[in-house]
Amino acid sequence: MTIVTAAKPGAALWNPQAHMPTARAKRLVITGGQGAWLETSTGDRLLDATASLWHANIGHGRERLARAAYDQMVKLETYHTFGRFSNEPALELADRLAEMGPIPGAKVMLTSGGSDSVDLACKLARRHWQLEGRADKKIILSRDGGYHGLHAFGTSVAGLQYNRDGYGTPSLIPETARISTNDIDAVRRSVTELGPDNIAAIIAEPVIGTGGVIGPAEGYLEGLEELCRRHDILLIADEVITGFGRTGRQFASQRWGIRPDLVTMAKGVTSGYAPLGGVLVAPQVADRFFEGADAPMFRHGLTYSGHATACAVALANLDVIEEEQLVERAAWLENVLEKVVAPLTDHELVEEVRAGAGFMAGIHLHDGVVGDSIAEACTDAGVLIRVIHDNTLQICPPFVTTEDELDLIATTIAQALDAYLTRRTTS
Ligand SMILES: Cc1ncc(COP(=O)(O)O)c(C=O)c1O
Repeated sequence: MTIVTAAKPGAALWNPQAHMPTARAKRLVITGGQGAWLETSTGDRLLDATASLWHANIGHGRERLARAAYDQMVKLETYHTFGRFSNEPALELADRLAEMGPIPGAKVMLTSGGSDSVDLACKLARRHWQLEGRADKKIILSRDGGYHGLHAFGTSVAGLQYNRDGYGTPSLIPETARISTNDIDAVRRSVTELGPDNIAAIIAEPVIGTGGVIGPAEGYLEGLEELCRRHDILLIADEVITGFGRTGRQFASQRWGIRPDLVTMAKGVTSGYAPLGGVLVAPQVADRFFEGADAPMFRHGLTYSGHATACAVALANLDVIEEEQLVERAAWLENVLEKVVAPLTDHELVEEVRAGAGFMAGIHLHDGVVGDSIAEACTDAGVLIRVIHDNTLQICPPFVTTEDELDLIATTIAQALDAYLTRRTTS
C-alpha cells in the first residue's frame, strides 16, 4: 500500500521577492487586522509598523470598504473600459483623482497596480515623442536607489541593481539610464552627456521608499522639473508610495511644489483593500488623444483597467481619508515619528536615521549588522518591521497609529538593537 502524506498547506506558494528556503522555514501568516494591529495564525498580535507594503494607510479591517465592494459586486462586479465602454465607479474615480492631483486639467488612466502604472507612464512618454516627430527621444532616466515596481519597465529603470540583474541585458527594455539620487548638478551632467534629444522622460519618486527612505535634497525636485522643462523631457513623479497623504499632502508633488507631466499612483488609492493604480496625465501629453477625428490611439490597457469594484473601494477609501482628515493627521504624525526615532541616531549600530520627509522613516544600520535579525526580534516583541535596501529598517505605519504606538515602535527597535549588541559583545 502506498501512503500518500498530505503536503504542508501552502507548500505550493512561491513568494515574491523571497529566498524560498527561508520563507518556507519562517512563514508568517497574517490572518486578521484592525486599525494598526494585525493577528497571526499563531494567535499573536503585531503592530503594523510598515502598513503592509506601504499601503494600509487608513488601517486594517474597515467594514465600510468591505460594504462598498459588496454593494458594487452585487450590482455589477465590473465591466471592461476598452473603447467606448465604461462603468460608473471608474468615471467617478477618474474625475475625483484628476481634481485632487497636482496636475491641472489632468486625464486619468486606471491600472491594476503600481508596476502597471509605471509601465504605462514610460510607454506613454515614448509614444508622446514619437507623435511629436522626435523619434530619438526614447531614453528613460531614473534615480540611483529608485524603485518602480517589477514589470518590464520597472525592472529596466530600477535604481536597485539586484532587481535588474540576471536577464541577460543591462536593461530588459533598452534605452534606460540612471541619474544621481540627490545631486542635481550630476543629473545635469548626465543629461548633457546622453543628449537631451535622446531623452524621453525622467521618472523619480519624490521620496525614495524601498531604496531606503530618502527625502529629496534641498532644491533637487525643483531642479529636476526645471531641467525637464528646459530640455523638453517629461517628468514622471512616481507617487505609488507618496500619493494619498503619506507626505502630509495628497501628493508629494504638492508638498514640494512641482508640476510633473505624469504621476503614477497605486497603494494608498485603495489603502490596499483592492488592487488598483492609475496615472495622471497632463494636458500637453493627453490632449492630442482626445481631440479631432484623426486623434491617435494609445494602444495600452488591461482587462482590469477601471475595475468597477476596485474603483468603488477607492472612492470609499478617499471618503474615509477626507472625513477623518487623515492627510492632516499624517502631517502631524510625521513630526511625532521624527521625534521618537531621533534618539536612535546615537545607537552604536545605527549609521543614520532618516525621517522628516513624510510619515515614514528609515533606520539605516551599519554594514555587518544583520538587519533581518533586528527586524525579527522586533516582530517577536510584537512590532512588525521589515528590512529594505541598504540595511534599513522601514517604518511607515497606518495613518490611524497613535503617539503611544509610535513610541512603542521606537522603543522596540532600541531594545532589539541593545539585545543584538549584547549578544555580539558576549559571543
Ligand atoms: C515607488 C513605487 N513604484 C512602483 C511600485 C510598484 O507597485 P506594485 O507593487 O503595486 O506593482 C512600488 C511598489 O512598492 C513603489 O514603491
